[in-house]
Parts: sequence; structure tokens; C-alpha cells
Amino acid sequence: VRVGVLLSGRGTNLAALVEHRRRDPDRAYDIVAVASNVPEARGLVLAKRYGIPTWAQSHKGLERAAFDDLVDAELRAREVEVVALAGYMRLLSPEFIRKWEGRILNIHPSLLPLHKGLDTHRRALMAGDLEAGCSVHVVTEDLDDGPVVAQARVRIAARDDADSLGARVLAEEHKLYPEALNAFCRAFIGRPPE
Ligand code: GRF
Repeated sequence: VRVGVLLSGRGTNLAALVEHRRRDPDRAYDIVAVASNVPEARGLVLAKRYGIPTWAQSHKGLERAAFDDLVDAELRAREVEVVALAGYMRLLSPEFIRKWEGRILNIHPSLLPLHKGLDTHRRALMAGDLEAGCSVHVVTEDLDDGPVVAQARVRIAARDDADSLGARVLAEEHKLYPEALNAFCRAFIGRPPE
């Protein structure tokens, strides 16, 4: 399955997706495009190093739907079938989500439905949660809200701060996302064409 990744930042999840795919050629997915709304994102540098075609343009000055049309055109030009968000720090327009309905995955650093949105680790600590983690979910029109397809948990220790907790959760993300994307794409192969 041809997967396009959207990112805005570091790209450590992109790296995990690519590395898992390289180690195991039986994976059901191939990362064939990386697109970003942040032209200076480090994730783009990683993508280029992996030899993956990249596209980047700042969203500034463009309406949300108009910008998403550019992203959509790029994904279609690369014959992308499934979109994986990996630190894409921009809300997608309802129009884009409808076009790609049921074909967009996201990874979120909390045990959804807990702690949607930003600053998840600090909020988990403030809430006195005993566990934190990450979730892979199908993207719907509401932020961080679609059906969860996979989760990983870590225990919160008394000495944890947002950084130490975030680092442990991120390590779990790097294992969870490649597995979840693989399983999702395997199921996708069985789907009748639209
Ligand atoms: C991750 O914590 C992910 O869960 C969230 O954004 C962050 C992206 O990190 N959606 P990276 O760019 O993959 O390193």
C-alpha cells in the first residue's frame, strides 16, 4: 500500500516507519511521499536522506481548504492510497478528511480519549494519571477523536517530569506506529476499490 506521510517537525516517527519497512520487506506499506507545511522541518531532511520524494510549502497566507488542496494534489500525483500523520501540526479541513475518509491515520501521545490536543504529558502528570502512552487512530473531522486502532502504555513514575515521560512514550510510538500502519494497510489491501 502506497503511504504518504504528513509532518511538521522532527520526523522521528517517519524514521521509525521507514526503518521498520527496510528491515522487513514483507511489510504491507511503502512510504512513497512526505509532505510538510513547514519547509524547514527536520523530517524533510530525513526523508530526503531516505530517498523519499518530498513536497513542502508554508500554509501561511492560504485558506485551510486551499492549502489542503495542494497537499491532496501532491498525494494524488504520487498515487498515495493511505495517509499517515506523523507530527503534522495542522488541522486538516473537513473537505480533505472527506476525500480521504477512512484512509488517514494519526499517532497521538496519550491514551485517547484522554488528553486530546497539545501538551499531553504535562497534563497526564497534572491529572495524577498512573499510566500514559500513545494511540494510533483513524482521523475524523474532530481533533484526535477517530476510532483508536492501537495503543501502547507506559507506567508513570513518581520522579517523572514531562520530558522523561515524553521520552518513554516516544520510544513506544516508534514501535507502535509501524505495527499499526502495517496492520491497517494489510486490512486495506482487502478493501474493494471505491
Ligand atoms: C509525536 O509525539 C506524535 O505523537 C505527535 O507529534 C510528535 C511527532 O514527533 N503527534 P516526531 O516528529 O515524529 O519526532
